[in-house]
Formats: sequence, C-alpha cells, structure tokens
Amino acid sequence: MVGINFKVGIIGCGNIFPMHAIPLSNIETVEIKAVCDIKEDRAIAASKEYNCEYYTDYKQMIDTADIDCVHICTPHYMHAPMSIYAAKAKKHILTEKPMTIEYHDAVSMVETAKQNDVALGVIFQNHYNHGSQLIKKNLESGALGKIISAKAIVTWKRTDEYYSKSDWKGTWDKEGGGVVIDQAIHTLDLVRWFVDSEIEYVDAQISNRAHNIIQVEDSAEGVIKFKNNVLAGFYTINYYGYDAPVEIELYCEKATAKMVGNKATILFNDGKILESKEDNSESMYYGKSYKSYWGISHIKQITEHYNMLAQNKKPPIDGEYGLKTQRMISAIYNSGKVSKRIYF
Ligand SMILES: NC(=O)c1ccc[n+]([C@@H]2O[C@H](COP(=O)([O-])OP(=O)(O)OC[C@H]3O[C@@H](n4cnc5c(N)ncnc54)[C@H](O)[C@@H]3O)[C@@H](O)[C@H]2O)c1
Repeated sequence: MVGINFKVGIIGCGNIFPMHAIPLSNIETVEIKAVCDIKEDRAIAASKEYNCEYYTDYKQMIDTADIDCVHICTPHYMHAPMSIYAAKAKKHILTEKPMTIEYHDAVSMVETAKQNDVALGVIFQNHYNHGSQLIKKNLESGALGKIISAKAIVTWKRTDEYYSKSDWKGTWDKEGGGVVIDQAIHTLDLVRWFVDSEIEYVDAQISNRAHNIIQVEDSAEGVIKFKNNVLAGFYTINYYGYDAPVEIELYCEKATAKMVGNKATILFNDGKILESKEDNSESMYYGKSYKSYWGISHIKQITEHYNMLAQNKKPPIDGEYGLKTQRMISAIYNSGKVSKRIYF
C-alpha cells in the first residue's frame, strides 16, 4: 500500500475547483482533508463529494485542519493574502494563475514562502500540453535554431452576462484586469516560456471596446521585446464570437513552429514536418462545468508538483518562475494605462 505524503486543503470551490479536486483524488500519495469557501453551500457540497471537512474561513482552515498543503482557487485579489497566511503557517502552496494582481505582492509571496521554507507553485497547466512540450523540446535541443520573432493571438468570447454572473470579474480591484490577466495570460506565459529570455521592455495598448458593464480591458495588443532581441507581438480580445483556438507562431532560424489550440506543427526549412499528437486516453471527466479551453493538463502539473515535493525538490512551476510572468503581465497593464513603453 502507498502511504500518504501530503494532506491538502483547497480554498475556493467555484469553477476551477474540480480541476484540482479530481486530480488530487487520483494521486495515491495525496489526500484532500478540507475544503473552504465563503459560500457555505459550495463548501458543504464539495466536502460531501470529497468526504472531508469544510470551512468558510480560510484562516480557520489553515490554523486548525490537519493539512500540510493549500491549493488557492479563489479570485485573484485573494491569492496573495491567502498564500502569505498559509506560508506563515508552514503550509506548502499551489495557487491558480495569476499569482496575484500586483507584482510587488507576488514578490512578497515568494519571499514569505522562502522565509518559512515552504514550496510555492503556480498553475500554468498549458506547459504540459503535448503541443507546448513538442515545441519546448525542439527549442531546447536546438532543432529549431534561435527564435527570430514570435506572435500570439487570443480571441475568445466573454459576454456581459459572463461578467454579471460573477461578483469579482470585470473589476480592477478583484480581478486586476480583464482579457490580459485572466484569459491571454496562459498564451503570453507560453510565449515567455518558449523565448526563455529576460524582457527588455513591454509596449502595449489596452482598452474596453465592446463590453458595457466592466471596468477592465476587453482588448489589448502590444509587443514584448526580449533581451535576446526577439520581438513578440500579441493581440487579444474577449468579445469574439466564440473561443477561437489560440494561435502562437515562432519564426525560428531552422523552422517555423505553430500552435493552434493545443496542437503544434513544426515546419522545418528542409521540408520536414513534426506534429504533436493528442492522446484521447488522457481525457478525464471533470464534471459538467468543464471548459475545453482549460485543457486537461492540470492533472499533469499537479502530479509533477507532488512528485517534486515528495523528493524535497522545488515545484516544476514555482513562485520564482511565476514572478517573471507576473512582471510581464503587470508591465502590459502599466504600459497600457499610461501609453508608455515600460523598460525592465
Ligand atoms: N488554470 C486555468 O485554466 C483556470 C481556469 C479558470 C479559472 N482559473 C483561476 O482559478 C481561480 C478561481 O476562478 P474561478 O473561475 O473558479 O472563480 P469562481 O468565482 O467560480 O470561484 C471562486 C470561489 O472562491 C470563493 N471565495 C471567494 N473569496 C473567498 C474567501 N475569502 N475564502 C474562501 N473562498 C472564497 C468564491 O465563493 C467562489 O466559490 C482564478 O484565479 C482564476 O483565474 C484558472
């Protein structure tokens, strides 16, 4: 029989909760001990489903439940205070994206985790998609040569109704932005991960062009200039007619790598073609509320996260990594708000 290495409490039992709870209940060495939501009906329903305790106050859960890890699945403005409170109580943390809203809060999250010798992980599950892996491996092996330039396009659909149903989305104080920090963040993060260089500057525009009831941007475009000279242009809107497959293209010395949705195609200059394959046996039932654009890779990141923790190693996507993406996202907002180039 396999022993339990980690006992987990999950904070936030909303949309993304099943993408954490289902993988956790499939990992033999991990046990869900507690769930927490300020909406008591959600906390009760989750505790019944996963046969564990429930709380409506996260501090009480952290202080009293028999847990050593916390997953944070709450609105963006709560990620930093929850993460810092958990770290001070010596709990390991895995937070949903974005790490937080403000870069300086992300720095505090990393510092507090370090000071208290706990692991801090950040969910960017799309690293684990087959398409992302194919491109990353071919970049690392040198098969693509250097990236010369990159572009990314995210055109999704988030209606006024989507925003009116939420008590935190569409606001600067609780969501911290709109299409950039919530939807396009995954794609911008992938581009940064692929290019794998420090950023020199970000120059972006943000605006609300089609929504009536939100404070935040529903469109953004700009460029991220990396210190290795790659210029990565991006365009994102969330007033499109449907959730169109995300597009990333990396124009490289020896090939052009394209990702459409989760599928990657690499067209080498010599005519060779490599394509990623999806594996249908990997799909799991995540419940009725599952959205296909979340992909199915939460389980891969969460499994690797706990494998690393069990070996006393740092999480595969840790706070230090998350800081870099957070800084890029914050710079896009800073640039867009003042219409100025932001140098790093
Ligand atoms: N990785 C992905 O692909 C992905 C997809 C969707 C959402 N997310 C992220 O997951 C997080 C949650 O998003 P969601 O769509 O599930 O939101 P949601 O609104 O559906 O759920 C959030 C839950 O947190 C609860 N909550 C709020 N404040 C709380 C508090 N102080 N204590 C305890 N519970 C509290 C709410 O009552 C709600 O049930 C966000 O960071 C979001 O960006 C990630």
